[in-house]
Amino acid sequence: MRKVYLVGFMGCGKSAIGRRLSYFLKMPYYDMDHEIVRQQGMTIPEIFEKYGEAHFRKLETEFLQNFRNETCIIATGGGVAMNRENRKIMRRTGLVFFLDATFEDIYMRIKNDKNRPIVKSSTKEELHQLYADRKKFYRDAGHIQVLTGGRSLRMIVEYIAFQVNRLKGE
Ligand code: S3P
Repeated sequence: MRKVYLVGFMGCGKSAIGRRLSYFLKMPYYDMDHEIVRQQGMTIPEIFEKYGEAHFRKLETEFLQNFRNETCIIATGGGVAMNRENRKIMRRTGLVFFLDATFEDIYMRIKNDKNRPIVKSSTKEELHQLYADRKKFYRDAGHIQVLTGGRSLRMIVEYIAFQVNRLKGE
């Protein structure tokens, strides 16, 4: 069995769904942002401020290149699927789920978040534009698109688990 990657915009539910899925499938769960924060000994806003976004993007690719060969669930950061190399690695080493949430749902969840530098430095209109611009990359990255709007966490987790079990042997 390969890795299960969750991709999608900030606030689409990658971490919450990843944690639940981990119980459901009895597979270890990792949050890429947390792993990078742990490795660097700095918060995401600190990394952005001190070294810039481009450096953070390099750390993301390095993480994907070097992460142990283990069957697990990985919640990626919202910008990970923008990079071609990242998309290639994820598709080669696992099953990729694009969690497709509506912008309104997303905005409600992220608007006051101080730990997301892109949210802090953008207006609602700019975030909406970014959401629209990024969508094709998430689609490109994902083997399976999961519409989350109007669905409970439980329904989403059960759906993903069903797909993982169905595609296990392939
Ligand atoms: C980012 C999303 C964040 C984090 C960083 C940049 C992005 O992860 O990696 O703040 O560019 O969309 P989440 O999607 O977990 O918020």
